[in-house]
Amino acid sequence: MAMIKLTINNQPHSLDVDPDMPLLWAIRDVVGLTGTKFGCGIAQCGACTVHLDGSPVRSCSLPVSAVAGQKITTIEGISKHVDHPVQKAWIEHQVPQCGYCQSGQIMSAVALLKQNPKPTDADIAAAMQGNICRCGTYVRIRQAIHSASAEISAAPKVKNASKLGKR
Ligand code: FES
Ligand code: FES
Repeated sequence: MAMIKLTINNQPHSLDVDPDMPLLWAIRDVVGLTGTKFGCGIAQCGACTVHLDGSPVRSCSLPVSAVAGQKITTIEGISKHVDHPVQKAWIEHQVPQCGYCQSGQIMSAVALLKQNPKPTDADIAAAMQGNICRCGTYVRIRQAIHSASAEISAAPKVKNASKLGKR
């Protein structure tokens, strides 16, 4: 066992765990954030996707010791009120069927739109190919990503945000 320091959803955590414990286990069983799901356990399905410093990673296949000190974001951390444009688009398009894969799908979609706010169908297919949905919700996922893209692109850009609030 070792004390591992993690920052999850901007909250610091010190976990007394086996350094080889998969990050997914630490997130779900130690920290208690159960929105991230276990699917295959071998980095093949995407159900366990979280962000590591903003990039999507498979938390089932990363030992906690490898991510100490890095910024981890889970599905619980992408918005305070389930109002991220991707979450709103998922609701609007009624994307989930059984729902099991969907937190991973959303995490990959959020990462895609952050890097590429106006993805083409081909961009979406490439970015989402590692997220498997056994219910076959792929068409609605693509539609929802385009909807979220439209909302993000239409949002007014805030210039000099660091000056806001200073009078
Ligand atoms: S559970 Fe991690 S990729 Fe399937
Ligand atoms: S909604 Fe059932 S696995 Fe994707």
